[in-house]
Amino acid sequence: QLPHSFSEPVTLAIIGGTGLYHMASLEPVARLTVSTPWGFPSSPITISRTSTGFPIAFLARHGLHHDLLPTDVPSQANIAALKSLGVKVIVAFSAVGSLQEHVSPRDFVIPNQIIDRTKGIRPSTFFESGFVGHVGFGEPFDKKLGELIYNTCKDTIAPQKLHSPATEKKDTLLICMEGPAFSTRAESQLYRSWGGTVINMSCIPESKLAKEAEISYQMICMATDYDAWNVNEEPVTVETVVSNLKANGENANKLATTLIPALEKALVAGEIGNDLKDTSKSSISTNP
Ligand code: ADE
Repeated sequence: QLPHSFSEPVTLAIIGGTGLYHMASLEPVARLTVSTPWGFPSSPITISRTSTGFPIAFLARHGLHHDLLPTDVPSQANIAALKSLGVKVIVAFSAVGSLQEHVSPRDFVIPNQIIDRTKGIRPSTFFESGFVGHVGFGEPFDKKLGELIYNTCKDTIAPQKLHSPATEKKDTLLICMEGPAFSTRAESQLYRSWGGTVINMSCIPESKLAKEAEISYQMICMATDYDAWNVNEEPVTVETVVSNLKANGENANKLATTLIPALEKALVAGEIGNDLKDTSKSSISTNP
Protein backbone atom coordinates (compact mmCIF):
# COMPACT_ATOMS: atom_id res chain seq x y z
CA GLN A 1 0.00 0.00 0.00
CA LEU A 2 1.47 3.36 -1.06
CA PRO A 3 1.10 6.47 1.13
CA HIS A 4 -1.90 8.67 0.24
CA SER A 5 -0.13 11.93 0.95
CA PHE A 6 2.99 13.70 -0.23
CA SER A 7 4.24 16.86 1.45
CA GLU A 8 6.76 18.30 -1.04
CA PRO A 9 5.79 20.41 -4.05
CA VAL A 10 5.73 18.43 -7.31
CA THR A 11 6.64 20.65 -10.27
CA LEU A 12 6.64 18.14 -13.16
CA ALA A 13 3.67 16.08 -14.36
CA ILE A 14 3.15 13.54 -17.11
CA ILE A 15 -0.34 12.92 -18.44
CA GLY A 16 -0.66 9.52 -20.08
CA GLY A 17 -3.07 8.97 -22.97
CA THR A 18 -4.42 5.83 -24.60
CA GLY A 19 -1.85 3.05 -24.24
CA LEU A 20 0.18 4.82 -21.53
CA TYR A 21 -1.22 4.15 -18.07
CA HIS A 22 1.94 4.33 -15.95
CA MET A 23 5.63 5.22 -16.25
CA ALA A 24 7.43 1.89 -16.33
CA SER A 25 10.85 3.29 -15.44
CA LEU A 26 9.69 5.02 -12.26
CA GLU A 27 8.98 3.46 -8.88
CA PRO A 28 5.84 5.01 -7.30
CA VAL A 29 6.31 6.46 -3.79
CA ALA A 30 2.77 7.79 -3.22
CA ARG A 31 -0.69 7.56 -4.74
CA LEU A 32 -2.91 10.59 -4.18
CA THR A 33 -6.67 10.94 -4.45
CA VAL A 34 -7.03 14.67 -4.98
CA SER A 35 -10.36 16.43 -4.55
CA THR A 36 -10.83 19.75 -6.38
CA PRO A 37 -13.70 22.27 -6.67
CA TRP A 38 -14.26 20.66 -10.11
CA GLY A 39 -14.48 17.12 -8.73
CA PHE A 40 -11.97 14.28 -8.86
CA PRO A 41 -9.38 13.81 -11.61
CA SER A 42 -9.48 10.94 -14.12
CA SER A 43 -7.29 8.75 -11.93
CA PRO A 44 -5.37 8.81 -8.69
CA ILE A 45 -2.14 10.77 -9.14
CA THR A 46 0.97 8.63 -8.77
CA ILE A 47 4.09 10.31 -7.42
CA SER A 48 7.49 8.83 -8.28
CA ARG A 49 11.05 10.01 -7.74
CA THR A 50 13.92 10.14 -10.22
CA SER A 51 17.34 8.76 -9.21
CA THR A 52 18.14 12.16 -7.68
CA GLY A 53 14.92 12.19 -5.64
CA PHE A 54 13.12 14.71 -7.86
CA PRO A 55 9.34 14.08 -7.64
CA ILE A 56 7.12 13.57 -10.69
CA ALA A 57 3.35 13.24 -10.92
CA PHE A 58 1.59 10.88 -13.33
CA LEU A 59 -2.09 11.03 -14.26
CA ALA A 60 -3.93 8.63 -16.63
CA ARG A 61 -6.22 10.86 -18.76
CA HIS A 62 -8.80 8.19 -19.52
CA GLY A 63 -8.63 6.51 -16.11
CA LEU A 64 -6.45 3.58 -15.07
CA HIS A 65 -8.84 1.16 -16.79
CA HIS A 66 -9.63 3.44 -19.72
CA ASP A 67 -13.24 4.00 -18.73
CA LEU A 68 -13.53 7.69 -19.74
CA LEU A 69 -14.54 8.81 -23.23
CA PRO A 70 -12.60 11.88 -24.47
CA THR A 71 -15.81 13.93 -24.02
CA ASP A 72 -16.05 12.86 -20.37
CA VAL A 73 -12.44 13.45 -19.26
CA PRO A 74 -12.67 15.80 -16.24
CA SER A 75 -9.99 18.16 -17.54
CA GLN A 76 -10.77 20.98 -15.07
CA ALA A 77 -10.25 18.57 -12.16
CA ASN A 78 -7.14 17.08 -13.80
CA ILE A 79 -5.43 20.44 -14.27
CA ALA A 80 -6.64 21.84 -10.93
CA ALA A 81 -5.38 18.73 -9.10
CA LEU A 82 -1.94 19.01 -10.71
CA LYS A 83 -1.84 22.75 -10.00
CA SER A 84 -2.66 22.09 -6.34
CA LEU A 85 0.43 19.86 -6.10
CA GLY A 86 2.65 22.68 -7.38
CA VAL A 87 2.98 21.52 -11.00
CA LYS A 88 4.64 24.05 -13.35
CA VAL A 89 5.29 21.82 -16.38
CA ILE A 90 3.03 19.20 -17.99
CA VAL A 91 4.13 16.82 -20.73
CA ALA A 92 1.00 15.17 -22.10
CA PHE A 93 1.08 12.05 -24.29
CA SER A 94 -1.69 11.32 -26.79
CA ALA A 95 -2.52 8.70 -29.41
CA VAL A 96 -3.30 10.39 -32.74
CA GLY A 97 -4.30 9.62 -36.29
CA SER A 98 -1.93 10.75 -39.05
CA LEU A 99 -3.16 13.20 -41.68
CA GLN A 100 0.10 13.05 -43.68
CA GLU A 101 1.67 10.22 -45.67
CA HIS A 102 5.14 10.81 -44.18
CA VAL A 103 3.83 10.57 -40.62
CA SER A 104 3.58 6.80 -40.18
CA PRO A 105 1.92 4.84 -37.40
CA ARG A 106 4.32 4.64 -34.41
CA ASP A 107 5.91 8.02 -35.31
CA PHE A 108 6.15 10.83 -32.75
CA VAL A 109 4.84 14.34 -33.46
CA ILE A 110 5.46 17.45 -31.37
CA PRO A 111 2.62 19.79 -32.38
CA ASN A 112 2.77 23.56 -32.08
CA GLN A 113 -0.74 24.49 -33.26
CA ILE A 114 -4.31 23.30 -32.70
CA ILE A 115 -7.61 23.62 -34.52
CA ASP A 116 -10.49 22.99 -32.16
CA ARG A 117 -13.14 20.78 -33.75
CA THR A 118 -14.73 19.69 -30.46
CA LYS A 119 -18.41 20.53 -30.17
CA GLY A 120 -18.30 23.08 -27.36
CA ILE A 121 -19.78 20.58 -24.90
CA ARG A 122 -16.65 20.14 -22.76
CA PRO A 123 -16.26 22.48 -19.79
CA SER A 124 -13.17 24.33 -20.96
CA THR A 125 -12.41 27.26 -18.67
CA PHE A 126 -11.73 28.06 -15.04
CA PHE A 127 -13.27 31.49 -15.63
CA GLU A 128 -16.86 30.99 -14.51
CA SER A 129 -19.31 32.03 -11.79
CA GLY A 130 -19.10 35.76 -12.47
CA PHE A 131 -15.36 35.72 -12.86
CA VAL A 132 -14.31 36.77 -16.38
CA GLY A 133 -10.88 36.43 -17.93
CA HIS A 134 -9.43 35.87 -21.40
CA VAL A 135 -5.99 34.29 -21.66
CA GLY A 136 -3.96 34.36 -24.86
CA PHE A 137 -4.04 31.03 -26.73
CA GLY A 138 -2.22 32.08 -29.91
CA GLU A 139 0.55 29.65 -29.00
CA PRO A 140 -1.34 26.78 -27.36
CA PHE A 141 1.85 24.92 -26.44
CA ASP A 142 4.98 26.10 -24.63
CA LYS A 143 7.58 26.75 -27.34
CA LYS A 144 10.59 26.44 -25.04
CA LEU A 145 9.29 23.16 -23.63
CA GLY A 146 8.51 21.87 -27.14
CA GLU A 147 12.04 22.65 -28.29
CA LEU A 148 13.57 21.03 -25.22
CA ILE A 149 11.49 17.90 -25.86
CA TYR A 150 12.46 17.88 -29.54
CA ASN A 151 16.18 18.30 -28.77
CA THR A 152 16.06 15.44 -26.27
CA CYS A 153 13.93 13.18 -28.49
CA LYS A 154 16.12 13.56 -31.55
CA ASP A 155 18.92 11.71 -29.77
CA THR A 156 16.72 8.66 -29.18
CA ILE A 157 14.18 8.60 -32.03
CA ALA A 158 15.14 7.96 -35.67
CA PRO A 159 14.91 11.26 -37.63
CA GLN A 160 12.21 10.02 -40.04
CA LYS A 161 10.06 8.99 -37.05
CA LEU A 162 10.08 12.34 -35.26
CA HIS A 163 8.12 15.34 -36.56
CA SER A 164 8.17 18.84 -35.14
CA PRO A 165 8.12 22.43 -36.43
CA ALA A 166 11.91 22.04 -36.78
CA THR A 167 11.71 18.98 -39.05
CA GLU A 168 8.60 20.07 -40.99
CA LYS A 169 9.82 23.67 -41.43
CA LYS A 170 6.20 24.75 -40.78
CA ASP A 171 3.53 24.45 -38.12
CA THR A 172 2.76 20.96 -36.90
CA LEU A 173 -1.01 21.17 -36.68
CA LEU A 174 -3.05 19.01 -34.35
CA ILE A 175 -6.78 18.82 -35.06
CA CYS A 176 -8.85 18.05 -31.97
CA MET A 177 -12.23 16.45 -32.72
CA GLU A 178 -15.07 15.48 -30.41
CA GLY A 179 -15.46 11.78 -31.18
CA PRO A 180 -15.92 9.15 -30.02
CA ALA A 181 -16.51 8.00 -33.62
CA PHE A 182 -13.60 8.81 -35.93
CA SER A 183 -13.88 11.30 -38.82
CA THR A 184 -15.57 10.69 -42.15
CA ARG A 185 -13.28 10.52 -45.19
CA ALA A 186 -14.55 13.97 -46.28
CA GLU A 187 -13.76 15.47 -42.86
CA SER A 188 -10.35 13.85 -42.86
CA GLN A 189 -9.64 15.29 -46.33
CA LEU A 190 -10.87 18.71 -45.17
CA TYR A 191 -8.40 18.65 -42.25
CA ARG A 192 -5.60 17.78 -44.68
CA SER A 193 -6.59 20.77 -46.84
CA TRP A 194 -6.20 22.91 -43.69
CA GLY A 195 -2.64 21.63 -43.33
CA GLY A 196 -3.39 19.23 -40.47
CA THR A 197 -0.53 16.96 -39.42
CA VAL A 198 -2.34 14.75 -36.90
CA ILE A 199 -5.74 14.38 -35.24
CA ASN A 200 -6.87 13.41 -31.74
CA MET A 201 -9.73 13.92 -29.30
CA SER A 202 -7.74 15.04 -26.28
CA CYS A 203 -5.82 18.32 -26.46
CA ILE A 204 -8.91 20.51 -25.95
CA PRO A 205 -9.67 21.67 -23.29
CA GLU A 206 -6.61 20.23 -21.49
CA SER A 207 -4.14 22.62 -23.15
CA LYS A 208 -6.46 25.63 -22.63
CA LEU A 209 -6.95 24.90 -18.95
CA ALA A 210 -3.20 24.45 -18.47
CA LYS A 211 -2.71 27.91 -20.03
CA GLU A 212 -5.29 29.42 -17.64
CA ALA A 213 -3.57 27.66 -14.74
CA GLU A 214 -0.24 29.21 -15.84
CA ILE A 215 1.28 25.75 -16.37
CA SER A 216 3.73 25.22 -19.27
CA TYR A 217 2.21 22.50 -21.43
CA GLN A 218 3.37 20.43 -24.39
CA MET A 219 1.73 17.43 -25.98
CA ILE A 220 3.69 14.55 -27.49
CA CYS A 221 1.60 12.75 -30.11
CA MET A 222 2.10 9.12 -31.09
CA ALA A 223 0.46 7.99 -34.32
CA THR A 224 -1.62 4.82 -34.35
CA ASP A 225 -3.33 5.02 -37.76
CA TYR A 226 -3.79 7.01 -40.98
CA ASP A 227 -7.29 8.26 -40.20
CA ALA A 228 -9.92 8.03 -42.95
CA TRP A 229 -8.32 10.09 -45.76
CA ASN A 230 -5.79 7.49 -46.84
CA VAL A 231 -7.78 5.18 -49.08
CA ASN A 232 -4.58 3.45 -50.20
CA GLU A 233 -4.07 2.07 -46.72
CA GLU A 234 -5.72 -1.13 -45.65
CA PRO A 235 -8.79 -0.35 -43.52
CA VAL A 236 -7.57 -0.09 -39.93
CA THR A 237 -8.10 -3.18 -37.87
CA VAL A 238 -8.37 -3.31 -34.10
CA GLU A 239 -5.32 -5.63 -34.11
CA THR A 240 -3.15 -3.03 -35.89
CA VAL A 241 -4.27 -0.20 -33.63
CA VAL A 242 -3.77 -2.30 -30.49
CA SER A 243 -0.29 -3.41 -31.56
CA ASN A 244 0.63 0.19 -32.50
CA LEU A 245 -0.71 1.45 -29.16
CA LYS A 246 1.33 -1.14 -27.32
CA ALA A 247 4.47 -0.23 -29.25
CA ASN A 248 3.79 3.48 -28.69
CA GLY A 249 3.39 2.93 -24.94
CA GLU A 250 6.74 1.11 -24.87
CA ASN A 251 8.38 3.84 -26.97
CA ALA A 252 6.98 6.56 -24.71
CA ASN A 253 8.39 4.78 -21.67
CA LYS A 254 11.77 4.45 -23.42
CA LEU A 255 11.70 8.13 -24.31
CA ALA A 256 10.82 9.07 -20.73
CA THR A 257 14.12 7.65 -19.47
CA THR A 258 16.00 10.43 -21.27
CA LEU A 259 13.26 13.04 -21.30
CA ILE A 260 12.57 13.12 -17.57
CA PRO A 261 16.18 13.88 -16.52
CA ALA A 262 16.32 16.66 -19.14
CA LEU A 263 13.06 18.17 -17.87
CA GLU A 264 14.24 17.85 -14.27
CA LYS A 265 17.48 19.67 -15.08
CA ALA A 266 15.68 22.49 -16.91
CA LEU A 267 13.10 22.87 -14.14
CA VAL A 268 15.71 22.95 -11.40
CA ALA A 269 17.67 25.57 -13.38
CA GLY A 270 14.48 27.65 -13.73
CA GLU A 271 14.70 27.44 -17.55
CA ILE A 272 11.14 26.15 -18.01
CA GLY A 273 7.87 26.46 -16.12
CA ASN A 274 7.96 30.16 -15.22
CA ASP A 275 6.98 31.98 -18.41
CA LEU A 276 3.23 32.06 -17.72
CA LYS A 277 3.53 33.34 -14.16
CA ASP A 278 0.77 35.93 -13.44
CA THR A 279 -0.50 35.91 -17.08
CA SER A 280 -3.94 34.65 -16.01
CA LYS A 281 -4.10 37.05 -13.10
CA SER A 282 -3.54 39.97 -15.48
CA SER A 283 -6.13 38.66 -17.96
CA ILE A 284 -9.04 39.02 -15.50
CA SER A 285 -11.64 41.53 -16.65
CA THR A 286 -13.89 41.44 -13.58
CA ASN A 287 -13.38 44.29 -11.08
CA PRO A 288 -10.45 45.88 -12.92
N1 ADE B 1 -6.73 8.92 -31.93
C1 ADE B 1 -6.02 7.96 -32.53
N2 ADE B 1 -6.32 7.90 -33.86
C2 ADE B 1 -7.24 8.87 -34.09
C3 ADE B 1 -7.93 9.31 -35.23
N3 ADE B 1 -7.75 8.76 -36.42
N4 ADE B 1 -8.82 10.35 -35.08
C4 ADE B 1 -9.00 10.92 -33.87
N5 ADE B 1 -8.38 10.53 -32.75
C5 ADE B 1 -7.50 9.52 -32.85
